[in-house]
Amino acid sequence: MKKGLFICIEGIDASGKTTQAKLLVKNLNEKGYEAIYTSEPTHGFFGQILRRKILYGNERVPAVIEALLFALDRLEHVEKEIEPALKEGKIVVSDRYVYSSIAYQGAAGLDLTWIEEINRWAIKPDLAIYLDVPAEVVIKRLKEKRSVMETLENQRKVREIYLKLVREGRLLLVDGNRSVEEIEKEILQKVLKLLETSL
Ligand code: ADP
Ligand code: TYD
Repeated sequence: MKKGLFICIEGIDASGKTTQAKLLVKNLNEKGYEAIYTSEPTHGFFGQILRRKILYGNERVPAVIEALLFALDRLEHVEKEIEPALKEGKIVVSDRYVYSSIAYQGAAGLDLTWIEEINRWAIKPDLAIYLDVPAEVVIKRLKEKRSVMETLENQRKVREIYLKLVREGRLLLVDGNRSVEEIEKEILQKVLKLLETSL
């Protein structure tokens, strides 16, 4: 059976995840690999609820509700998009994954172990990259406030949890406070190195 490779890109809002995830997919495709881009929140049933009712309203809903909805959305993401593509031997590049729940809903005060528990079935990526950018930098990039998450204080708290996951060896830190091209090159290098030993 073909194996595929599962990569996710994490970071605070506007840290450059979408830019880098899409560039990685493009670069891998150009090198002859079959790579696809996916993202969370997804465009599925729960992802749409999150976008329409939870993320862009005026107030935050209780963090437990956020955590449960993101976990449900992720279950759909894994079952309908990630696993089928991996079974076909593809490289899946996910823009956000379970670490976003640990960081964001953790920053909202939830017990990190409980967040892990409700995401227990979420398969472990082969490579989980964290794009590190200071909160002050992303707040400048976010010209107008977009979601309930995007305050300086919240972005700082979220970053602290991502950095804790880096210290625990669960995320690989890439300095995101550089030019798009420099970051793109470093990520591609890391992924190609992993591919030499994996596929
Ligand atoms: P995210 O997916 O993390 O929200 P995006 O890739 O959508 O981030 O980028 C958010 C904004 O920051 C966009 O306007 C994008 O053009 C800009 N951006 C992305 N990467 C960089 C970078 N390395 N330096 C400066 N600006 C960047
Ligand atoms: P984002 O990546 O900005 O998606 P889009 O640009 O398509 O709206 O994600 C939206 C927000 O959702 C972002 O502020 C982070 C938050 N989020 C969580 O709080 N928990 C999660 O588990 C995920 C996946 C995202």
